[in-house]
Amino acid sequence: MNIIFFGPQTSGKGTQTERLSEKLDIPVLRSGDILRNKKTTDDDEGREIASFIDVGKLIPDEMMNNIIKEELQKEAYKNGVIFDGYPRNLFQAKHLEEMINVDRAIFLDVPDALVLKRMAARRICSKCRAVYNLSSNPPKEEGKCNKCQGDLTQRSDDTEAAIAVRLNIYHNITEPLVNYYKEQGKLLHIDGTKSIEDVHEEILKHLTADA
Ligand code: AP5
Ligand code: MG
Repeated sequence: MNIIFFGPQTSGKGTQTERLSEKLDIPVLRSGDILRNKKTTDDDEGREIASFIDVGKLIPDEMMNNIIKEELQKEAYKNGVIFDGYPRNLFQAKHLEEMINVDRAIFLDVPDALVLKRMAARRICSKCRAVYNLSSNPPKEEGKCNKCQGDLTQRSDDTEAAIAVRLNIYHNITEPLVNYYKEQGKLLHIDGTKSIEDVHEEILKHLTADA
């Protein structure tokens, strides 16, 4: 099964894809993490990626599409994949369809006001990139990842200036995917304001009904 997750910043894509992946045993392809890993390399590509991400802008489509095409060659994705963060516009969506069949597109819907609240409390493991939230999903030990004991940090693009750019891009460029997948009968519109567990259960309920 090939599943796409999309929705505004902090709508829970990382959180929900991680849980669903464990439940269904399907790997997650997370565009943001691939880019953040490349960004840590001190070369031209790393610096170029940083120049977009850190200010909240999207990576150019051609570059992004090539990265995904290469990533999808991996054996791990042969029996299915859960996409987090890709595609992010119609051009990318069409590119993806040339490579694989999309079974479901899950839209996590949250209002902008909640985005800002969640962003301020988000913490990420600097080693394994697991996602936490100081109020809704805190780590067991302060500042440490439950899974690998890595240090928790804030993302470089979780700033007020970058989030304004990111939300603007989301509404103008990514949101049209809602109608695109609705017209194809693939859209699953999920209320992302509920608790992490409730959202997870809601998604599972729909996917089980599909099977
Ligand atoms: P990316 O890393 O994909 O960031 P994003 O889309 O901005 O989404 P986030 O990761 O901020 O949010 P999320 O929905 O994953 O929420 P999370 O689960 O963490 O992309 C980053 C950048 O990379 C882009 O800006 C762009 O530059 C580039 N990029 C990536 N893909 C690209 C593409 N395809 N094309 C071009 N450029 C691309 O949750 C957020 C917080 O809320 C956490 O603290 C969590 O614990 C908490 N939380 C989650 N769900 C709930 C809930 N139900 N209740 C309470 N708290 C919750
Ligand atoms: Mg994420």
